[in-house]
Amino acid sequence: MSEATLQTPAPVITVDGPSGVGKGTLCRWLAARLGWHLLDSGALYRLTALAALRRDLPLEDEGRVATVAAGLDVEFWADLEGAMRIRLDGTEVGSELRSETCGDAASRVAALPMVRAALLQRQRDFRRLPGLIADGRDMGTVVFPDAELKLFLAASGEERARRRYKQLRENGLDANLQNLAGEIAARDSRDIRRAVAPLEPARDAEVLDTTRLSIAEVCGWALGLAAERFAVPEIR
Ligand code: DC
Repeated sequence: MSEATLQTPAPVITVDGPSGVGKGTLCRWLAARLGWHLLDSGALYRLTALAALRRDLPLEDEGRVATVAAGLDVEFWADLEGAMRIRLDGTEVGSELRSETCGDAASRVAALPMVRAALLQRQRDFRRLPGLIADGRDMGTVVFPDAELKLFLAASGEERARRRYKQLRENGLDANLQNLAGEIAARDSRDIRRAVAPLEPARDAEVLDTTRLSIAEVCGWALGLAAERFAVPEIR
């Protein structure tokens, strides 16, 4: 292997955007289509929040929550169907991680600069050949500013609440559309207004309003942009 090959970092596609916009669906599809690794950075903030709650820590105790984030004992693995599964402290976490309570707690700990700093390198360690699809809020702005392709998805708050509602119900979780819309608005405002790594498109991001688009249309748009920059494998 030449020195240049050794030094070239794996390519990255970043996908940022607000809650419930469909980043997760697009990222899972892109990762499967390209055969690349997947980073669900929101899961790391959710796991940090969950671990802190389990230790009875006040979520605003920045130092102690950051220590939890730095020492997070977490394992991501794919089961036989290819679904991502997660173990925290050696025990599987399921729907609890995807609940709105956990999402809200994640958004609180994500506003703490020391927590973000503690998770930065862990996120960058996901960058491995043949490539990485990185799902989050600050993937293109902070974590992978040198990414080859940066995508930013947007959609109206109403539409995102509807999508999140459908997703929660499909996962067997209880949900109320009106409450969800309020919670999503509160999280958006916290994620956009925080001082460190606020939710915003990178200057060089491709932005798409998905309000009136189907999942297939969003995936087609992203794949078209990816194909301009990378070798996309043929479907066999
Ligand atoms: O994408 P998600 O809903 O799983 O994210 C949960 C929370 O974590 C979200 O409200 C904001 C925060 N988050 C973040 O601040 N930065 C990221 N890169 C990903 C998530």
